[in-house]
Amino acid sequence: MIILSGGPNSVHVEGAPTVPEGFFDHCQAHDIPVLGICYGMQLLVQRLGGSVEAAEKAEYGRMPVHTVNDSLLFKGEPTDSQQVWMSHGDEATKLPDGFNCVGKSDAGAVVAIEDPKRKLFGLQYHPEVTHSERGFETIKRFLFDIAGLTAGWSMQNVLDEQIAIVKEKVGPDAHVICALSGGVDSAVAATLVHRAIGDRLHCCFVDNGLLRFKEQERVMKMFKDHLHLPVTCVDDSARLLAKLKGVTDPEKKRKTIGAQFIEVFKEYKADVEKKTGVRPTFLVQGTLYPDVIESCPPPGSDQKHSHTIKSHHNVGGLPKELGFELVEPLRMLFKDEVRKLGLLMDVPKQFISRHPFPGPGLAVRVLGDVCAEGALDTIRAVDEIYINAIREAGLYDQIWQAFAVFLPIKSVGVQGDQRTHSHVVGLRAITSSDGMTADWFQFEPKFLQEVSAKICNQVKNVNRVVYDITSKPPSTVEWE
Ligand code: XMP
Repeated sequence: MIILSGGPNSVHVEGAPTVPEGFFDHCQAHDIPVLGICYGMQLLVQRLGGSVEAAEKAEYGRMPVHTVNDSLLFKGEPTDSQQVWMSHGDEATKLPDGFNCVGKSDAGAVVAIEDPKRKLFGLQYHPEVTHSERGFETIKRFLFDIAGLTAGWSMQNVLDEQIAIVKEKVGPDAHVICALSGGVDSAVAATLVHRAIGDRLHCCFVDNGLLRFKEQERVMKMFKDHLHLPVTCVDDSARLLAKLKGVTDPEKKRKTIGAQFIEVFKEYKADVEKKTGVRPTFLVQGTLYPDVIESCPPPGSDQKHSHTIKSHHNVGGLPKELGFELVEPLRMLFKDEVRKLGLLMDVPKQFISRHPFPGPGLAVRVLGDVCAEGALDTIRAVDEIYINAIREAGLYDQIWQAFAVFLPIKSVGVQGDQRTHSHVVGLRAITSSDGMTADWFQFEPKFLQEVSAKICNQVKNVNRVVYDITSKPPSTVEWE
């Protein structure tokens, strides 16, 4: 079976990814079912003689769709409409011969098609994201009922396979280094590599000056008490912040942080070499599949540069002269899978359930210059109040990620009978399972009211709090 995935392209753009000549004939001749998702469906329609046109209105986010339940794709599903996740600008306006329309959006757009004879299927929405209500059922039906696959894949298999791959790649003598961020990804990646090669793994935790309130102390304690990994703490905050002073472009910030991170690594590598007498040749990174997708050109697109959403600094861009080979045992996994893998290796639940924190840290949460007066201290204080309130309300584990954002603007307020001209901060909380799509978390108004009052009362220089009610897409999770 083959799935033609979604992607940022339009089939009308020259050089957009496509399938080879004769692809559909080959699939039919070998009885290979094909499912096109979003762009994949548009490609399927266009290549088989139908029409794809720019939709009058692009559809992004949650939408209700109505499906035909005596079709192969939706057989046995309830007859009421379902909410699905859309993200497209083009739509199919004429179907190729042999296809039936088996799903429509509220606005009347074709969202599901099938040619049962040739076993060709298309979904305009994303069934693979958790926000598509019955998406998993539909995918399961395609994989197991239509394509006849069996589910033999488990997290234990992934663990065994990755340990074997790391052992094979690193060999019996080489030394490996790893930067722990304090997040679950690098901790799980390091734990896995530690299982594979033991004390030839050397870990460091870099305080780049962009960490949350008391993060350095808290994280180092957690490594020591629970993870039993050998970790060195490197304080690089002064150097990095000096380089970031005045930088306001989000991509330039990420690149500067990425470049400095590499410098620190070179130095740490030299230290490890001095200590052990062996030059470390491998670097462990907790890169996940969403980082790979969002930072890379779509496979087969022949593009050198991606339709970059954000340059996640742990993907690509490592200079060759660094002399490291990468070990990325989580590269094919999504966050929820990494958490399962961590639990399987006895990484403590309190570590596993930590909300993700991006590599560039508070730099992507302070819009504009991170060194602007008071910005980092303000956002740390606001974030601490907000996260503590979430924990106290027992909501931490229901939320995938929550954080505060510092806005480089001021607004007028009235505090203590005086007019003030102070900062606005944003609060974000989202639900998601992989960070690829997300919905905003619906707090009770009372919670937001109390948190807003606490922030304005306790944090100097803040007189306004706003709550972000945007999903991804159209927004991203982080503000920069
Ligand atoms: P976005 O903002 O891309 O976030 O929707 C999706 C998830 O990725 C995290 N994120 C990053 N992680 N380096 C990282 O290591 C980055 O540059 C970066 N940017 C975003 C984000 O926190 C969310 O969990």
